[in-house]
Amino acid sequence: MQSSSPKYIFQHSNPKPLPAKSIFITDTHIHELYPNLFKGTRTIVFRPGEEHKTQETVQYITKELLQFEAHRKTTIVGIGGGIVTDIAGYAASTYMRGLPFGFMPTTLLGMVDAAIGGKNGVNYGLHKNLVGTINQPGFIIFDTAFLETLPDHEWSNGFAEVIKYACLFDSALFDELNRNDIRYYRNNKEALNTLIQICVQWKTKIVNEDEHENGNRKLLNFGHTAGHAIETLYHMPHGQAVAIGMIIACNIAEKELGTDASIGQKLALLLSKYDLPATFDFNVQEVINVLTMDKKRNDTGIEYILLKNIGEACITLLSFSSIEQALVSTKNGSNH
Ligand SMILES: NC(=O)c1ccc[n+]([C@@H]2O[C@H](COP(=O)([O-])OP(=O)(O)OC[C@H]3O[C@@H](n4cnc5c(N)ncnc54)[C@H](O)[C@@H]3O)[C@@H](O)[C@H]2O)c1
Ligand SMILES: [Zn+2]
Repeated sequence: MQSSSPKYIFQHSNPKPLPAKSIFITDTHIHELYPNLFKGTRTIVFRPGEEHKTQETVQYITKELLQFEAHRKTTIVGIGGGIVTDIAGYAASTYMRGLPFGFMPTTLLGMVDAAIGGKNGVNYGLHKNLVGTINQPGFIIFDTAFLETLPDHEWSNGFAEVIKYACLFDSALFDELNRNDIRYYRNNKEALNTLIQICVQWKTKIVNEDEHENGNRKLLNFGHTAGHAIETLYHMPHGQAVAIGMIIACNIAEKELGTDASIGQKLALLLSKYDLPATFDFNVQEVINVLTMDKKRNDTGIEYILLKNIGEACITLLSFSSIEQALVSTKNGSNH
């Protein structure tokens, strides 16, 4: 069943004080960076970091919601990066079996990816997003003024997902990204706005076609299968891990689909332009061990997203041994 689409609002305004009726959820960074925003509001604040994306944080939020006397008509607004919106969406979807909620993403990654699509949840041990819901927010406010305080490495992180859309669907976007760099988008509001809107459109299109990930939504996992394993094992930022994951997928495609080595080479070059890595000294067996516990596996292997070309992707069922070979060649940087 397709739930109703959220309302999107694009703006660039220095965030104003929030309405007192709603309850806000954010992390301590945003709370400290934007004190005026939260003045006089009912706000639940938790500590940033993937290690706090847990059921314990959701329990804490639930306790606070009870204390604030949140009821079925109270709107919950998650203001922050992907961790905040994932937790806020999940907490709002489960408290009293679901309250209305919306998001104000404050990272590039949140704006182009995490806040969109209705998948929200928390980690369990080494398993990323193992527990969660699919439930669309009522609204998403994309306010690029927040990005003015975003640290450099978080820009790179967000660009990993932008590059992912380019690889999957949009070779013109790939070329545009190649012509520019992070500094260009940081200094050019209009170009940044257009870029965010292009990504929002791609993700929204896929989610609208396949909200519950029975088909094409799986494509959005490009770079995320091995990426998530590396992210969890080595506490690596999401975008960096996805960058390495995309290169691993290119190495697999070369062997499995016979694609040209130049695809991975072009991607590695583009990643480096956006300060993202293409290789990393991971332990192949450790990564394989985490992959064998992946949500997307079945008995014979794992569904993997591979590029046939820049802008064209497919879903392929792979055995763990072919993944292992590609992990070895990525680790050694043998092709790229
Ligand atoms: N639900 C989905 O479909 C989906 C998609 C992609 C990623 N995700 C999840 O999103 C998370 C990653 O999101 P993220 O990269 O936004 O991470 P994040 O939420 O950890 O934010 C990154 C850091 O930037 C800080 N920050 C946020 N906004 C800021 C601002 N405007 N100025 C200064 N600092 C700011 C945060 O406090 C945090 O320290 C992961 O947990 C990932 O699993 C979910
Ligand atoms: Zn991602």
